[in-house]
Amino acid sequence: MPEVLAQLTDVQVHFPVHSGLLLPREVARVRAVDGVSLAIGKGEVLGLVGESGSGKSTLGRALLRLQDVTAGRVHFAGADITHWHRRQLQAVRRRMTVVFQDPEASCNPRMRIGDAVAEPLRVHERLTAAELQHKVLALLEQVGLDASYALRWPHELSGGQRQRVGIARALATDPELVVLDEPISALDVSIQAQVLNLLEDLRRQRGLSYLFIGHDLGAVAHLCDRVAVLYLGRVVEAGSVADVIAAPQHPYTQALLRSVPLHDPVAARARGLQVLDGEIPSPLHPPPGCAFHPRCRRALPACQQNRPELLAFGTRQLACPVATQDAQLPIAS
Ligand SMILES: Nc1ncnc2c1ncn2[C@@H]1O[C@H](COP(=O)(O)OP(=O)(O)O)[C@@H](O)[C@H]1O
Ligand SMILES: [Mg+2]
Repeated sequence: MPEVLAQLTDVQVHFPVHSGLLLPREVARVRAVDGVSLAIGKGEVLGLVGESGSGKSTLGRALLRLQDVTAGRVHFAGADITHWHRRQLQAVRRRMTVVFQDPEASCNPRMRIGDAVAEPLRVHERLTAAELQHKVLALLEQVGLDASYALRWPHELSGGQRQRVGIARALATDPELVVLDEPISALDVSIQAQVLNLLEDLRRQRGLSYLFIGHDLGAVAHLCDRVAVLYLGRVVEAGSVADVIAAPQHPYTQALLRSVPLHDPVAARARGLQVLDGEIPSPLHPPPGCAFHPRCRRALPACQQNRPELLAFGTRQLACPVATQDAQLPIAS
């Protein structure tokens, strides 16, 4: 494992649900992230997969301190930034950035592309007009857009081109960590591989670390070194891509891999592909015991009561006593 760049330790993000107009009180809480520990090494790409609603985006936002945590610690570059205030965070904001799923989100329709890419530089760096222009054009070129794009408007660009602009913006301040929150999910399938290759090239050229959030396991296998599988706010399995994607042990990971086009279960069913049974339960009322037990074909009675711990088996982590026993995984020393 390379030197750790960013780390979550036992992080919870709960959203309180209030009721009562005059005297609002907390009546429940959405457990979006419910006790997650993970680390991203320098130059490493960690994949984060799981169905919609499993807490991936919330976890990414917590890592970037765009979201306060309910409990646990957030470390970046050796500093405990869990409770840093806005002023202190300014210093790390430029070092960790984000690319969102929706390329529209990173393109203000009233801003020319060049200005959109210049914006983070204007916030974080003091450059002369000439330096700024030079840097913007260099960034556009690095994401495969020639200088003429600087003067264009977002509506003149395709989805793939707009996502390239989103990537240029994220890279503008020379970050060390980029959270990629489903960066290719909204793009045409024909464009996805191009953007994925661009991300791969940029990571190699710049020695970047990524948290790559996605539900396309093919893309995860292509880009990532390690992968963590999230279910209802908890990691159920984690390890190298070779372990987790090639030889999944948790029944949930296995089901995910069988049902690859997760974003379109109707189309998947129509094509005869197996889809995960049932819906992901609400994080407002997670099932007792193992949260996956109501949908698990291998669940034992004990799974309804005991919440499995995430245990280490060599370099793999697994939270399922049934799978552990069947696979006869060695207990870590
Ligand atoms: N600001 C919020 N307030 C209340 N609930 C939220 C908020 N943000 C996310 N959630 C809930 O947290 C859960 C996880 O959401 P999210 O992190 O977006 O999952 P994912 O990215 O895996 O689809 C969902 O049930 C979602 O409705
Ligand atoms: Mg999300």
